[in-house]
Amino acid sequence: MSSKQNLKREPKPIEERIATSIVTLRNKKKKGISAVIVTAYTYPEALLADQAGVDIILVGDSLGMTTQGYKSTIAVTMDDMISHCRGVWRANQKSFQIGDMPFMSYQESSKLAIRNAGRFLKEGGCDAVKIEGAMIDRVKAIVDSGIIVMSHLGLTPQSRAALGGYRVQGKSMDATEKILNDALKLQDAGCSFLLLEAMPKESAAIIANELSIPVYGVGAGDQVDGQLVILHDLIGMFFDFKSKFVKRYCDAGEMILEALKDYAYEVRTGKFPTKENFYEMNEDELEVMLQDPKWKYILEK
Ligand code: KIV
Repeated sequence: MSSKQNLKREPKPIEERIATSIVTLRNKKKKGISAVIVTAYTYPEALLADQAGVDIILVGDSLGMTTQGYKSTIAVTMDDMISHCRGVWRANQKSFQIGDMPFMSYQESSKLAIRNAGRFLKEGGCDAVKIEGAMIDRVKAIVDSGIIVMSHLGLTPQSRAALGGYRVQGKSMDATEKILNDALKLQDAGCSFLLLEAMPKESAAIIANELSIPVYGVGAGDQVDGQLVILHDLIGMFFDFKSKFVKRYCDAGEMILEALKDYAYEVRTGKFPTKENFYEMNEDELEVMLQDPKWKYILEK
């Protein structure tokens, strides 16, 4: 029986689980076990992701679109990221937490990149940071300062305008070789993980095979070392568009909408609140109040 067939749907109770580390993640690649990565941006989201036993929680700058309502990730600031990371930090017990460096938090200089990467660890409780693009010098500088880095190639949403939109990348042999060369340079610069977004399965498979570090995919096929899906896509809470690579596991948006309609209807029709939602007054006290004509009218309603 392959080791994959022994895997169970139900994770171990959280207190029995060992916290995921860079070593665990490297070992998964060696054993051919896919790592599970999901985004989470808030305390309750991270609580559930961690309880479900995911390996990595990415506090992605996609929060700009899923949670803040912008049309892209460009407006997200370092302070936004740190604030969201802190909520995740307080919830997360066992998952490896990665903070996504937002647009213009690392491009300007290595000094700025190191300072901001450090904030993710010191103020946001992250284990590592993620950087978009072939930022070899920045990656090296951050790694040299003792911080674990995940690089992100393929479709890099912060460069959406330069890429001409959210387009699949690495569709030709030349394009694949360019991404592979960048990936190898990033690996040499010390990055510990690579994330490939929106690429053909074959291109991503070549890169995952050529690199010794774990290579994860979001819309990059099944021949990589792990999968990432944005939480709001997975649970049906992102309403603007649905990418081809997304599988929706539930429709939380629809459930919440129906619950809110039920609530509004019940308040308007007097069905909520009812006895089971009321606090009781002390009986003796109530007796005393009922004797007072001033209050009697309201208490007998
Ligand atoms: O911000 C994010 O969630 C990401 C994913 C799209 C990979 O970078």
